[in-house]
Amino acid sequence: MRRRRFIGSAGAALGVAAMAQPAAAAVNSPADTTASQVPAPSADKPLAAGDWKALRQLFPLTPDYIHLATFLLASHPAPVAREIEKHRQGLDANPADYVHAHSLKMEMETADSAARYMGGKGANIALTDSTTMSLAMMFSGLQVGPGDEIVQTVHDHYSTDMSLAHKAARSGASIRQVALYDQPAEVSVEQCCTRLAAAITPRTRVVAVTWVHSSTGVKLPVRALAEVVSKANDGRAEQDRILFCVDGVHGFGIEDQDVTQLGCDFFAAGTHKWIFGPRGTGVLWGNDAAWSRSEPVIPGFGLSYGAWLGMLPVDKVPPGRHFTPGGFHSFEHRWALPAAFDLHLALGKANVQQRIHQLNTQTKEGLASMAHVTLHTPMSSALSSGLVCFDVDGRTPDAVVQALHAKGIIMSSTPYRQSHARFAPSLLNTEQEIDRALAEIRALA
Ligand SMILES: Cc1ncc(COP(=O)(O)O)c(C=O)c1O
Repeated sequence: MRRRRFIGSAGAALGVAAMAQPAAAAVNSPADTTASQVPAPSADKPLAAGDWKALRQLFPLTPDYIHLATFLLASHPAPVAREIEKHRQGLDANPADYVHAHSLKMEMETADSAARYMGGKGANIALTDSTTMSLAMMFSGLQVGPGDEIVQTVHDHYSTDMSLAHKAARSGASIRQVALYDQPAEVSVEQCCTRLAAAITPRTRVVAVTWVHSSTGVKLPVRALAEVVSKANDGRAEQDRILFCVDGVHGFGIEDQDVTQLGCDFFAAGTHKWIFGPRGTGVLWGNDAAWSRSEPVIPGFGLSYGAWLGMLPVDKVPPGRHFTPGGFHSFEHRWALPAAFDLHLALGKANVQQRIHQLNTQTKEGLASMAHVTLHTPMSSALSSGLVCFDVDGRTPDAVVQALHAKGIIMSSTPYRQSHARFAPSLLNTEQEIDRALAEIRALA
């Protein structure tokens, strides 16, 4: 009775019913009729790996500007926009049946597509709405209390700082902040590792770092830092082991990296920046040990709801599904995320990394040659990625941003207490655009 009532009501809306029904019943459901009435997205011309001009044409970005801040919030490329439209039409035509037919299946497909791009398995990936939501879930779920210490860095974004501050206030754990470098342009692997090792104490239970600093453009040597954490974990009992948590949003969509091989326990990232995913999407990957030491903050829907109703034991719900915040979402955006991962895989992760670093190097070399400019981002591609931070003598970062905007170039200033001007040369730029932006900076002398 209980099961039938669930399938007929809440379960239908949560998509668990589709999982529980025999396949034939699910296929013949009215929801599938609705789905089949939605026109399939028309196929793109296959995108040749490395054809950056063709890639740029997939974006509706205005040609009136040179866009050097596209990483802030994605413009939707055509394949993503088409998937959004497909799901939007289905939801608008028949929301109850469409969500019933698609929610659990699409959540799993979306997590699996993330795994194909980032590594690991979809069962370990929770879907979120932003980097901030991923970070807040990651830190809020930690099992820490009075006497425990969280080590973070002074280079982290507001969203890490405040998520940790809120967690500390709730739990009684304390926070220790460490500077891994003083001069970003001179950062070294050894310096970062030495400083992190010195900050860890027997009370440390969590280490939080940011892969690429949006304040300086420094890319931390996360793999080497993971070794430091691993050494500190030697001989610790499982419950005392330090969890290594990474805000990976910058770097994700640039670096040719299986993030599950970075050596971290948790990896949080928005997918509406470098990945070109739908606005309002993100991921949180955790390894099995990390998830097992976490507590969900927002109840999951789908399988977790089914567990609550007694349809399956809660330990049979994969962590990625259990930790994906429930409630209904802007599903047309979330379910279009696979199109963005597929686009990156079609371009080739190695090609993407090579291209962005090529344009970054062109930018950094140009800026470094100007006497009135101080470049803060390291020249080395091993220690930087995507973001190029600098200052122009006699001008505030915002004044530089405004001066370039007046010349048709959109850039940003870093939203930190110590702010810098920032270029983010991406797959959507050409060498000629970088030269034009550099010429305008040169003209500010
Ligand atoms: C390092 C870092 N973390 C987190 C965020 C927040 O990202 P979101 O807008 O996806 O929450 C940003 C924003 O750019 C960032 O630079």
